[in-house]
Amino acid sequence: MIILDSEARLFTLQTRNTTYQMKVDEKGVLLHTYYGAKLQGGDLSRLIRFADRGFSPNPSQVGNDRTYSLDTLPQEYACAGTGDFRLPALELELADGSHAAELRYVEAKACRGKYTLEGLPAFFASPEEADTLAITLEDAAAHIRVELLYGVFEACDLITRAVRIRNCGQEPVRLRRAASLCLDFPGAELDFVTFDGGHVKERGLNRAPLRPGIQSVGSVRGISSHQHNPFVMLCEPSAGEEHGLCYGAALVYSGNFEAAAEREQFETARLTLGIHPFHFCWTLEAGEAFTTPEAALICSPNGFGQMSRQFHQAVRSHLLRDVWHSRRKPVLVNSWEAFYFDYDHQRLLRFAREAAALGVELFVLDDGWFGHRDNDSTSLGDWWVHPKKLPEGLGALSREINALGMEFGLWIEPEMVSEDSELYRAHPDWVLNPPGRPYTRGRCQLVLDYTRPEVRTYIFSSLQKVLDDAHVSFLKWDMNRALAQVWSAGLPADRQGEVYHRYVLGVYDLLERMRQANPHTLIEGCSGGGGRFDMGMLYYTPQIWCSDNTDAIDRLRIQYGTSFAYPPATMGAHVSAVPNEQTGRSVPLETRGVVALSGTFGYEMDMGALSQQEKDVVAKQIADYKESYDLIQTGDYYRLTPPSPDGAPTAWLHVSADQRTALLCLVSGQVHAAQPFRYLKLRGLDPRLQYRITGEDLSWPGDVLMQAGYPLPMLGEYQSLRLWLKAE
Ligand code: DGJ
Repeated sequence: MIILDSEARLFTLQTRNTTYQMKVDEKGVLLHTYYGAKLQGGDLSRLIRFADRGFSPNPSQVGNDRTYSLDTLPQEYACAGTGDFRLPALELELADGSHAAELRYVEAKACRGKYTLEGLPAFFASPEEADTLAITLEDAAAHIRVELLYGVFEACDLITRAVRIRNCGQEPVRLRRAASLCLDFPGAELDFVTFDGGHVKERGLNRAPLRPGIQSVGSVRGISSHQHNPFVMLCEPSAGEEHGLCYGAALVYSGNFEAAAEREQFETARLTLGIHPFHFCWTLEAGEAFTTPEAALICSPNGFGQMSRQFHQAVRSHLLRDVWHSRRKPVLVNSWEAFYFDYDHQRLLRFAREAAALGVELFVLDDGWFGHRDNDSTSLGDWWVHPKKLPEGLGALSREINALGMEFGLWIEPEMVSEDSELYRAHPDWVLNPPGRPYTRGRCQLVLDYTRPEVRTYIFSSLQKVLDDAHVSFLKWDMNRALAQVWSAGLPADRQGEVYHRYVLGVYDLLERMRQANPHTLIEGCSGGGGRFDMGMLYYTPQIWCSDNTDAIDRLRIQYGTSFAYPPATMGAHVSAVPNEQTGRSVPLETRGVVALSGTFGYEMDMGALSQQEKDVVAKQIADYKESYDLIQTGDYYRLTPPSPDGAPTAWLHVSADQRTALLCLVSGQVHAAQPFRYLKLRGLDPRLQYRITGEDLSWPGDVLMQAGYPLPMLGEYQSLRLWLKAE
């Protein structure tokens, strides 16, 4: 709900559990008064303190009132250049070379429903599910209008923000920085939590107290990156899974980003989140506007678990446009770790037959089916079928696979080109690279210039020809290198600072076209696993391959970190062969299943090589998948214990909305002699109900399971449990 008090110029956003408030002061500055646990309302600007602070300057309007400084006030959208020396949200470069911006209030409007952002991914809602507040600010001297947009999703405590910046003057203006979110906190005793790692080790949780100065994570790789995720948290030092105040902020964006937190001199804090200012410079000609990507905020007064469950609900109901939402997703098998590039029509068919016999429902043909791609140095861009490997074409192959009762899926990497390709030979200028500079290659490939519509149109038509010929119901959209030497032949020298962002807009444009042209095809995102696991991609690709690391034990940590913002239903997770190709570790097949079953589930191994005993395990896993599908897709997710290097088990729980059904999943780590007795305290159950647990005769009261805990059996190394709890 939005409470807009025009007279007091007070704006209060109320969600189920939180309150967010802003107020325009008598100088016209939009101040941030509160964000936290739900309050009844009222004017909270009385919380704001004024004092004469040395070296914090005073705007002209206040004359010599030395107690009023933009450097000390909590602001809603802070600008650089006019006396606030903290992290800026907006940095302009005006035609005269000056960098000042001073925003003052113009008007505010509220309406039912959620604003939309053209060409950008964004949360959506019906008019009953969300409201919009739009506050317009202006720098009168620079003729710049800034519209702050707020989407309020009451039920899931979600507040979205985006910013539209319009040049209303006659001279061009350059945007040097335009954050999507700026959030001031009255205290700085906060921990900054980020999700970091690298290729095959994505989204590990890191938590540290805010120290004086600026701490930031981000990406300048052109993709949101394996190294840092565009989702961060700030929380009270005592906050944990079940208690304490915490704030989660995600950028709905897939390119360069920066998430920065500052602890400043008077022990307040500021968080900014938006496009990374590295090599960002956007020219606004007279009358033009720039829209930032959307940021999504959720505050939980009751710990990380509640924040995550609210994010999961928000993402599932208001971000994913899953073309398969009304059907159970088929169990898939992917050819990559089974064969890499080494296959032909017959081998694939044999593989498909074996998989179909085990109950697999979707066959995904990964890399290697096009051009003359026999290794990863060639043919990207040549989206026609490999004549030697697949002489009968994809149409014939897909029909034969369909005849086995399976659907057919296909891998593509549309943003790339190999130098050894017809496409590159015809259009060497279609790659991102400054003229005259030798290439910086990544995985032997170059990046296509997606800022140019003709490049996107070419790729669209050549891919669509393939899709029209074969019956493809699943597409895996991969992207296997970071951007470097970013320069576009389609833009003049003074607009090269727009290339990174225009590239991302181009990717979104093509994704949308592909979605529209193939309304029944599910697109899975991938960037060497989880290099672009973000809410921007999820808007187009409702599931993303979580990591190229399929080792079940490493996956525990990766899926744990991912779960802070993203629901299990979005996490691509497959059972692969052992010893694992990334770690060399051998984990029991049952355990590999338990981990993958809490994601989108499938196999990525040569299923013909399985023993009869393993085939029986697979049959059981597929049956388990079908039984637990709805719960995992839509249930509440509880992290019970974090992945632990010291051997303690990692446990999580899926609970149905009515709390009558739950699924306890647990994997033991390294085992040491003389294991302790362990009791696992469950969460989210109804304390008054009796639950019957798989394999047990006597039922357990919900309150006992939550307060005293469930006595765990002693498990061997890397063993697992998957236990149903059903209310009697
Ligand atoms: C990287 C992906 O993450 C893998 O799953 C696989 O599709 C390869 N690319 C293919 O080149």
